[in-house]
Amino acid sequence: MDTAVLPLEEDFLYNQLAEKLEKNILDGVLKTGDKLLSVRALSKEQGVSLSTAFKAYTQLEIKGLVEARPKSGYYVSFRKRNFQAPDNSVQFEKVPEEASVDDIVSMVYQSLNAEGLIRLSIAVPSNELLPVSKLSKTMAEAIRESNDSCLSYEATQGNLRLRKQIARYAFNWGGNITEKDVVTTQGCMEALVFCLKAVTEPGDTVAIETPTYFGIFSVLQSLGLKVLEIPTHPETGISIEYLAGAINKVDVKACLFVTNFTNPMGCILPDDRKKQLVELLASKDIPLIEDDIYGELYFGKARPRTCKSFDKKGLVLLCSSVSKSLAPGYRVGWCIPGKFTEKVISLKRMHTVSSANPTQAAVGLFIETGRFDLHMRNLRRELYKQCLLYTRSIAEHFPESTKISQPKGGCVLWIELDQKIDAFKLFQAGMKHNISISPGHIFSTDARFKNCIRISFGMPITAEVEHAIKILGILAKDMLKA
Ligand SMILES: Cc1ncc(COP(=O)(O)O)c(C=O)c1O
Repeated sequence: MDTAVLPLEEDFLYNQLAEKLEKNILDGVLKTGDKLLSVRALSKEQGVSLSTAFKAYTQLEIKGLVEARPKSGYYVSFRKRNFQAPDNSVQFEKVPEEASVDDIVSMVYQSLNAEGLIRLSIAVPSNELLPVSKLSKTMAEAIRESNDSCLSYEATQGNLRLRKQIARYAFNWGGNITEKDVVTTQGCMEALVFCLKAVTEPGDTVAIETPTYFGIFSVLQSLGLKVLEIPTHPETGISIEYLAGAINKVDVKACLFVTNFTNPMGCILPDDRKKQLVELLASKDIPLIEDDIYGELYFGKARPRTCKSFDKKGLVLLCSSVSKSLAPGYRVGWCIPGKFTEKVISLKRMHTVSSANPTQAAVGLFIETGRFDLHMRNLRRELYKQCLLYTRSIAEHFPESTKISQPKGGCVLWIELDQKIDAFKLFQAGMKHNISISPGHIFSTDARFKNCIRISFGMPITAEVEHAIKILGILAKDMLKA
């Protein structure tokens, strides 16, 4: 189903009013159970029409922040008390490790295609949130427009239209690049592989954040690289202070960080910290591979910047794809490898020859025609709403001691359970009820996150999903009692 193309609602009065009220609720100024002004009183107080006041409340109701009680009015329904950030910012000493979490990853992901499974483990917006038919039409249009119906090999560097659009779009994250700086790839994963190969040799050590996306461990392991895990603050990202100490002690050949809305924690490295990180690594000539795959999924007003935008020496290799925003199956990704561009093109020539032509052409045209912009506006709004709805449901059904991350973008929640609960056992118990989650074990080389789980909110919440969350909550409570 296509997401309907909505006009720019942000500009409407009721949206501004809803935002103001939302902030008061999120900041705890308005507390759970507080009675809100009547629609009439709100309209009078704010000098807006009755319909504007009503729409503002409806907006908040959709997000699960307020509830209308029959014959009584509107009340705040958001449960702020459970929203403490997980405390894993404690400093620790580590040495480079073999990057292996493969066995447990395959156990978690082998049965994902099972019929009827509620997949809370997949970090991707579900197809209901994607512009399915518009994208298919764009693909047909792109093939028609192409001189050779997209049948020939594409130039190794990648489809020109797509590269131009990526370069144009870079403006939003503070980039100043041209199509010559972009190399297209099969998804972000291939971009990471080429960039790692361009800057390391087998046996080298790469610094990564912890917890980190398990696919990064697989890539590092397959390239014979060691990992040095850098502690990450749940809100402000990796500890640059820790990294500074680590690179003085360990021969770190490259860093690989997700800087905007990490997977699984959802944290974001603030702009001044991004600049500080780029300067620190530049002072030691250490390349930074920046995975920005979630950068477009921001809930705030503007897209966050990237480390690449502060890069003066060409040492930042930015990697991304449309897998989290438009079409994971299209396998359209890219990198902007700075001074390693020629090396990356040559690696791509050796390994892939060229990327799939029709999907690159389709994504290029989709961005060029403005369809991507419209889709992203809707997707961001929808994901934010889902984030709040999932959070509310988890807070309601899980044990009281549960801590839930508060991401400002992306599509996953990181949940810290009581130390007594083993997340892998919870995963196994959930599978018996046809519910899949990602246990914390797969996001680190050791068992540090064994009481944490990752839940994706990429699938719109339905009665079935709500029920699944309730069951997980019951299972977690049972484990606490055991
Ligand atoms: C941080 C991160 N990087 C890379 C990928 C892989 O992206 P792609 O599907 O475009 O290869 C993922 C997918 O979950 C991810 O979360």
